Amino acid sequence: MKVLVTGAAGFIGGQLCHALWKRGDTVIGIDNFSYGNLDNLHFDDHDFAADVLHMDIRDREKLPALFEQEHFDVVYNIAGIAPLPDCQSDPVEAVSVNTMGLVNLLELCRRTGVKHLVQASTNAMYENETEFPTVEDKFNPPTLIYPNTKYCAEQFCRSFATTYNMNVTCLRFANVYGPHIDCLRKQPPFVGYMIRELYYDRVPEFHSDGNQRRDYIYVDDLIDLALRVTDRKSFDAVNVSSNTNYSVRELYAIACRLMHKDIPAKYWDTAHYWSKYPELYGGAYGIRPEILDHEVNKYSLCDNTHAKELYGWQPQVSIEEGLARVIENECAMLAVRDAAAAKE
Ligand SMILES: NC(=O)c1ccc[n+]([C@@H]2O[C@H](COP(=O)([O-])OP(=O)(O)OC[C@H]3O[C@@H](n4cnc5c(N)ncnc54)[C@H](O)[C@@H]3O)[C@@H](O)[C@H]2O)c1
Repeated sequence: MKVLVTGAAGFIGGQLCHALWKRGDTVIGIDNFSYGNLDNLHFDDHDFAADVLHMDIRDREKLPALFEQEHFDVVYNIAGIAPLPDCQSDPVEAVSVNTMGLVNLLELCRRTGVKHLVQASTNAMYENETEFPTVEDKFNPPTLIYPNTKYCAEQFCRSFATTYNMNVTCLRFANVYGPHIDCLRKQPPFVGYMIRELYYDRVPEFHSDGNQRRDYIYVDDLIDLALRVTDRKSFDAVNVSSNTNYSVRELYAIACRLMHKDIPAKYWDTAHYWSKYPELYGGAYGIRPEILDHEVNKYSLCDNTHAKELYGWQPQVSIEEGLARVIENECAMLAVRDAAAAKE
């Protein structure tokens, strides 16, 4: 099969390219490198740097030409602006990439006969849901910008599937963790941040009391499901979750044990959660404290029965095993980076 992966230089996209290539597919990636980096494309058995084109999913000249030339069988739209505060502080860009970019791809898929589009969606759209474990077809719509960009994207996926008989699957990822998680960005994901701070023997700062629970999915399990869904006809939305959740305190305890560290974390209020984004607190209308509080304390647990029953999928990697792999990869990356910086 000939497959296009967007966001190929990102945490998930790079590893998806690798899995598809190992399966024997012809893989072409695109990325605008706004967040991605070439390190995510190096693997022991293959380097994808040459297979990834510097291109934006919103492009309306080079991208149509690529679709016309390559006749892709499957498109995985993994590109996106993932950090919530980045989306919140630049909503126009967030909608432009996460929603309009997807629509651009849907239309190109329609015109050139792509057999299946898989969209990287998110369980963040369940932020206002109160029933757990949450099922795919019944939830309260979201409030924040990021989940709304993905929620709207899903509506367009459904629209194209219904109107044109296209095959589109939206995978609603839980919190994804695994090697290559970006621990260096402005507001890193929790797992990457926690390991980075422990690596440097620093006290990590967590918000609220640490008892808030989220569900996590290991990147290899996510990719296993992503490879299975492309035979399905029409539209589908699928939770990609472990159906188990962990609190901040529980994950921190596992990480401390695996890294042989004994550093008590600092727990403080939720008001500072996005303090690296002062623009969100300023302006004529600053972000409401209750909204931040809700985001920090939200409980998530997604029902993965649909993925299991329809696709015969079962997550394989336990949280201990998965965290151990992230720790090994992240600490090695930080050591290499520090050694290179010391030489300069
Ligand atoms: N990581 C998670 O926990 C998680 C959870 C739910 C959903 N998702 C979604 O999964 C996808 C991948 O997430 P990730 O964690 O790998 O993020 P990431 O930031 O590591 O990867 C996203 C990639 O998309 C690229 N990109 C951004 N805008 C682009 C554009 N306009 N054109 C082309 N490329 C562009 C970035 O440069 C980056 O390489 C995102 O769409 C994200 O919203 C991630």
